[in-house]
Amino acid sequence: MKIGIDKISMDVSNKYISIEELALKRGVEVAKFLKGIGQNQMSVVSKNQDIITLAYMAAKDIVDDFDREHIDLIIFATESSVDESKAASIYLKNYLGINDYCKCIEMKQACFSATAALDFAKAHVSMNENSRVLVIASDISRYGINTSGEVTQGAGAIAMIVSNGPRILEFNNDEVAYTEDIMDFWRPTYSKYAFVDGKFSVERYLGCLDKVWQRYRQKHSLIELKAICFHVPYTKLARKGLENITVNENIMEEFIHSINFNKRVGNIYTGSLYLSLLSLLSNTETLKGGDNIGMYSYGSGAVAEFYSLKLVKGYKEYLNIDLFKEKLDLRKKVSIEEYETIFFEESTDVENNSEGLEFYLKNILDHKRIYELRKEQ
Ligand code: CAA
Repeated sequence: MKIGIDKISMDVSNKYISIEELALKRGVEVAKFLKGIGQNQMSVVSKNQDIITLAYMAAKDIVDDFDREHIDLIIFATESSVDESKAASIYLKNYLGINDYCKCIEMKQACFSATAALDFAKAHVSMNENSRVLVIASDISRYGINTSGEVTQGAGAIAMIVSNGPRILEFNNDEVAYTEDIMDFWRPTYSKYAFVDGKFSVERYLGCLDKVWQRYRQKHSLIELKAICFHVPYTKLARKGLENITVNENIMEEFIHSINFNKRVGNIYTGSLYLSLLSLLSNTETLKGGDNIGMYSYGSGAVAEFYSLKLVKGYKEYLNIDLFKEKLDLRKKVSIEEYETIFFEESTDVENNSEGLEFYLKNILDHKRIYELRKEQ
């Protein structure tokens, strides 16, 4: 059985800020943020948006009536969960109109959990060949105003359907995983913001890459990779990762395509590696069916994995590339002052101000989240 990604889409919020303007406002040299960090824009959300509204906006583009009937598992990967108990995928199932004979769960391990969700989905489909699994990676990254992590924030979601006989990418079943118990980035349940030991996190991102890459090469020396995607906390770090493991010029060229979207969105944690994959597939002019793409997943704490995916012939026909580019281009630019107000407001302080959003968080009443779906925009 060939199992893999049959459909994939994204959402990147409807607002962004300019990183150049952020640097000027913070009194930082513009070149540090644009070149030293390697980011140009950052997607931001307002209080009417959360990981569930972002996930809905990504998934609605790929879930059709056949999927509504056949999806029997929804896995929501996130590290910016809105509830310690109820899985975000239950809300999503409801608003997407997916049948009730469907299992809904949420997974956590920092930015790694979307990769774990794909592993879980693969195992599920291998036991249930007609099953379709919706995998979501949705996050809002917030470090706080004037922190060193601020420039690496972002917001967005990736939705993928895993099935037998996929039309976009097949799993090569070659994953190598690695875990070490460290405190490089973490968010205790009592804290709104993550704590991060920035330099240490960078060191371990690269150190764990070295661990999984060496072992991957020993175990799978015959798999030729035509491109490599990385977890992208910020594009400069992914570039360092690439330079540490290869000097292949073609792979370097594909890498430019793989960071195009991430430069404009920022770190979307669990979805960051898969945003990079979408960016690569949307912008490459050379990758074709049969080519293998290496994938480096890293989640602080820390779990890392290196694996590969094989492109299916004709994959571009099943990607809505115009839509992805439109979603990036149609975002509204907000000023740094506006971002400071809307991004850091209390999440419980939700007004009925939908700003034309198709799906939004309307209110929180009796500690229950109330969403509204505006049909037929
Ligand atoms: N022109 C060009 N480059 C410049 C420059 C200028 N004028 N001024 C500085 N730079 C360069 C620096 O030389 C440096 O380059 P190198 O990385 O090659 O050394 C780069 O800009 C960044 O400068 P600093 O290291 O001084 O930056 P900083 O101290 O402000 O913090 C950071 C950088 C630690 C990454 C910080 O943004 C941070 O804490 N980010 C959040 C944590 C993070 O993203 N960690 C990544 C690994 S953990 C992970 O992957 C999980 C996850 O998603 C969070």
